[in-house]
Amino acid sequence: MNIIVTGASRGIGYDTVLEFSKNNKNKIIAISRDMARLEELKQRCNENYGNEIHVISHDITDDQNKLKNELKDYENIDILINNAGLLINKPFLDLSIEDWQETFNVNLFGVVKIIQCVFDKIVKSKYAHIVNIGSMGGISIAQKFEGLSAYSGSKSALANLTECLAEEFKDYKVSINCLCLGAVDTEMLRLAFPECKDSFQSVDIAKFICDFSFNYARLFNGKIIPVSSTTP
Ligand SMILES: NC(=O)c1ccc[n+]([C@@H]2O[C@H](COP(=O)([O-])OP(=O)(O)OC[C@H]3O[C@@H](n4cnc5c(N)ncnc54)[C@H](OP(=O)(O)O)[C@@H]3O)[C@@H](O)[C@H]2O)c1
Repeated sequence: MNIIVTGASRGIGYDTVLEFSKNNKNKIIAISRDMARLEELKQRCNENYGNEIHVISHDITDDQNKLKNELKDYENIDILINNAGLLINKPFLDLSIEDWQETFNVNLFGVVKIIQCVFDKIVKSKYAHIVNIGSMGGISIAQKFEGLSAYSGSKSALANLTECLAEEFKDYKVSINCLCLGAVDTEMLRLAFPECKDSFQSVDIAKFICDFSFNYARLFNGKIIPVSSTTP
């Protein structure tokens, strides 16, 4: 399988790449802005599992031409994990319009851009599964928390986009789902909830993301799936 994971330099994305790389048939394309961390991940995948991953330094909010060029040798993409995300923790009254724009640029428009950039390769896959990494904060009935209005709003829009695209893509036989994660022990969680002790480990969530994206493309489509056992 040819698999793209965005936000691969740390946290959930990093562990998801490691998990995918255990299977030597997987050709993994790992994207983030931090080439040094990506190179370290590449070395680890190689040393631990003999898997030579392809790392790309790319800001998902940028123009996609450079990325398109980097991906020109891939005939098809089987799985796209839209994991890159940004969280700004500030009370609503302190959030600037720039904060809102930056958050939506990464969490929503960045995803839009990547999907548009690689869609022609996804439709060529018999498997064709796009997995958006959302948040419990983006689910309308879930509990909300102070300081996260821009983040939760952007993840809510991402969940809605997932449902819309499932409808648009159904004739292309492309599945798209949104996994709405609860607390996972990463840098982002420490920014949002410094006191939170009760969280998933990112290696466990990474296993779930790999299993879901591999095995459930035909059982789920257009679904907003909560992945949480605690609040937050
Ligand atoms: N941790 C949680 O509790 C939790 C809960 C719910 C949902 N989530 C979601 O899970 C995903 C991963 O979160 P995490 O906790 O692993 O976060 P993290 O540790 O902060 O990692 C975020 C990743 O996104 C990448 N990224 C951010 N902006 C980017 C940009 N403009 N272009 C390319 N890459 C960018 C970062 O890479 P660079 O900085 O190297 O570019 C990094 O690899 C996010 O979508 C997050 O919203 C997390």
